Amino acid sequence: MKFKILVLLLITLGLASCNKDEEDLVVSYEEMNDLFVPLLIDSRMNFQPIQLDIQHGTHEFFPGVPSQTKGFNGSYLGPTIKMYKDEDVHLQFTNNIGAATSVHGHGLHVPGQVDGSPHNRIEPGETWDVTIPIRQEASSNWYHPHLMGSTAEQVHAGIAGFYIVEDDNSQSLGIPKTYGVDDFPIAVQDRAFVDGRMVDYPIGRTDDLREPTLVINGTVDPFVSVPRSNVRLRLLNASNARSYEFFVEGNLPFHKIATEGGFLESPVELTKLRISPGERNEIVIDMSNGDVELMASYLPTRLNNANPNSDPISRVLYLEVDDNLSPLNTNLAQNLNTIQRYNEGDVVNTRTFDVSDGKINGQKMDMNVINETVNRGELEKWTIKSGRHPFHMHGVAFLILSVNGGPPNHEDVGWKDTFMPNGEGEILLRFDYLATEEYPYMYHCHILEHEDAGMMGQFVVQ
Ligand code: C2O
Ligand code: CU
Ligand code: CU
Repeated sequence: MKFKILVLLLITLGLASCNKDEEDLVVSYEEMNDLFVPLLIDSRMNFQPIQLDIQHGTHEFFPGVPSQTKGFNGSYLGPTIKMYKDEDVHLQFTNNIGAATSVHGHGLHVPGQVDGSPHNRIEPGETWDVTIPIRQEASSNWYHPHLMGSTAEQVHAGIAGFYIVEDDNSQSLGIPKTYGVDDFPIAVQDRAFVDGRMVDYPIGRTDDLREPTLVINGTVDPFVSVPRSNVRLRLLNASNARSYEFFVEGNLPFHKIATEGGFLESPVELTKLRISPGERNEIVIDMSNGDVELMASYLPTRLNNANPNSDPISRVLYLEVDDNLSPLNTNLAQNLNTIQRYNEGDVVNTRTFDVSDGKINGQKMDMNVINETVNRGELEKWTIKSGRHPFHMHGVAFLILSVNGGPPNHEDVGWKDTFMPNGEGEILLRFDYLATEEYPYMYHCHILEHEDAGMMGQFVVQ
């Protein structure tokens, strides 16, 4: 309730600033909700196996109004699982949703057999018992269903969670790293509500589902109290189809410290950051000057049609300084990582993926067809032709070589696994793990409606 006063103040300020857009925006937020921070399960501190029950639930996006949702060990989303490089994590996923599913580790570099693809089907009532070998560097990844034809509906219902990988570097760096205090997982989704109730997924939909209300970790209009120091947000675009451009109200600068697969070499100062579905980016916001509003504009389907004056804008998160919390990280490390860059001259094989018309290279996903064969350990160059489709492949992280003929932006020169070139992009990548014909890897558009409708292919690594 203390926020009532603040909101009134903001409304007054909003009116005073005489900016039509801001005024509308501020007035629509009458009361904020405490940001939900998923429970942290640290694979070192807990008895393994880690049990994750995929279940039905009711979740109150709006107080007192239950919506029918699904989640892991809860009503919406799932615990954040912290894993460590060079350790194996034993997980048991039990399917209690009454329909088949699978649980993919998006961003994990693991053999096809434990990837959680459509071939790792978990029937209702069954448990998928899996040991995941973590051999990659510190990074923010996520887990979500991946069954052919029902991924969009199941993710939309709330089945998703974070996998956070730590390593010696991430644990020793001078960066915010206290989970739930100055380090937060932030899953950004869009949902529609009628009288406060979430509108169910329109099953069978084949074109992008874009809905009007932002939901952050399952919370509508969230605020979070943080110390007066640096705060790290692990932004995940877990929306079915929307891309966002994040910014801080007042266009204040923030720093991006990590791409999907690990830290950048040093923090990159930005005032805007675009994230397409499936992508993760870690940012650090300096809270030393007081409260901050993280905002997002909803991008149109084609990024080059973005219009800063007309695309809808929403607040993502209100960060409130609480001086009762002791300041933690005040000096952001400047050397974050060393990235061993590939040499284009070492490329052994090239492939092109044309992602358009609901297909990839003119083909739709067929569970019985292997579309590509890759040799383990060989450097490849892939050309991704994609106007509006975020392209993702399993089992690996890549480096961007070029985007529409030019070099990638400074903030994108780290390890990635999802990429929307908005035209044509070239990437360099090398697969280190096997994926057999029985358990192949997928590449696909991460707009979940497109993926379910067949904008996906399969490949083996031999
Ligand atoms: Cu996030 Cu193949 O998926
Ligand atoms: Cu994936
Ligand atoms: Cu697509």
